[in-house]
Amino acid sequence: MGEEGRIVQSAEDLTVPLRVPAEAYISPDYARAERDRLWRKVWLQAGRLEDIPEVGDFLTFDIVDDSVIVVRASETEIHAFHNVCPHRGRKLVDTPPGKRNARGHRRSFICGYHGWTFGLDGANTYLEHQEDWQGRLCAGRADLGVVQVDTWGGWIWINLAPDPMPLADYLHPAAGMLDPYGLQNMRPRWRKWVVFECNWKVAMEAFCETYHVSTTHPEFMEFGQFRGWARNQGLHSNIGYDAPKGQEEDSGKLRLGAGEDPRLTTAEMQNFTWANANTNTTRKLVDVANRLKDELPEGTPAAEVSAYWIGTARKEDAERGVIWPTVDPQHTAQAGTAWQIFPNFQIGHAVNNMLCYQARPYGSDPDKCIFEAAVYELWPEGEAPETEWEYTAPADWPPVLQQDFANMAAVQQGMKNVGFRGAQPNPYMERSVASLHMNLAKFMGTGAPEAY
Ligand code: FES
Ligand SMILES: [Fe+2]
Repeated sequence: MGEEGRIVQSAEDLTVPLRVPAEAYISPDYARAERDRLWRKVWLQAGRLEDIPEVGDFLTFDIVDDSVIVVRASETEIHAFHNVCPHRGRKLVDTPPGKRNARGHRRSFICGYHGWTFGLDGANTYLEHQEDWQGRLCAGRADLGVVQVDTWGGWIWINLAPDPMPLADYLHPAAGMLDPYGLQNMRPRWRKWVVFECNWKVAMEAFCETYHVSTTHPEFMEFGQFRGWARNQGLHSNIGYDAPKGQEEDSGKLRLGAGEDPRLTTAEMQNFTWANANTNTTRKLVDVANRLKDELPEGTPAAEVSAYWIGTARKEDAERGVIWPTVDPQHTAQAGTAWQIFPNFQIGHAVNNMLCYQARPYGSDPDKCIFEAAVYELWPEGEAPETEWEYTAPADWPPVLQQDFANMAAVQQGMKNVGFRGAQPNPYMERSVASLHMNLAKFMGTGAPEAY
């Protein structure tokens, strides 16, 4: 801490210029400490419910040294267990080589070492020569260890702590603000993952602000201004755009192109976004945008173009059974365009699609992470495509994401420079960075942003 530095402890403090020490991004000791102080204490998004629709369907989720099995035990019950055999510690379910996680269907889990067998409720159902233990394998000693699990938004959430705060309390106010978007009804269009050369925080912070858009993604500047805010929301934070007057609906993610003729710039922006990011829009929105020049007269005011574009896409989607929820424009202005769920998950929401990022450590190496992104949308009943997590080398991601990747790798290198004095996030547009570190410091006991 500098001489006049002051450790930040409350959200109000986040409005002033702050310095975030580099320790949290580059220190091996900090990275090792995260396992016990952070990852074993927080609620973590472990997968989607639609990935385990049938009784007996399971998936695994790994975080540093820990691995969890999540299984659908009945139509209404999801269980989670530590992915380790209580006999002599063999990992119970292996991750297939090259896969992000295991996923499959079992009636029971059989350990490959000595054959101990467990039901979908985690209870041991078979072990050879049980009498040799002289009756001591009681009180759950032969059963799988239970992991706390709950669901929200269509996701499965796990917590490795034995008695954590309820998920609903943990997610407040993010869950309530996002509920009107019906995120549980969306299904993936694609999902990609990669092991990347940066700390997980560097990866998450590449997507939690709009300050970088004009420099990193200059192509987007042709389509309008991207001045955006960031707000602290307890453990979490959210970001959004400052809406043009009279276009409050345009403060959401479905944005109009700016410029002389919004009919044309909206189409250009939609086509560009579809081709180069494949996020934040849907085929229907792109198609309707391409018809604006034929269906609206020249000189149509921007607010009318916006209303027609979104209204027409909404109507045509409804005709094919894709019902967008209706969200009040004032709610949209508050909810913004994305929520950073502490510590490592981001939901970029809209009424008909979403883009989600997650980054996890790769072992305890501060310089690496497992980075993943998934794009979801609403589909007609039964028409959602079957998708898997696809390992995708950085050069094969959509071009806009590659622009972000270039920063992520270079930030990880730059922060190690002896001359780097700590990050100085924009107190209005990048407050989510300071928010993350203020909250992290409460778990880690170090690394709090400092006022200067
Ligand atoms: S370690 Fe699993 S049965 Fe022995
Ligand atoms: Fe970006």
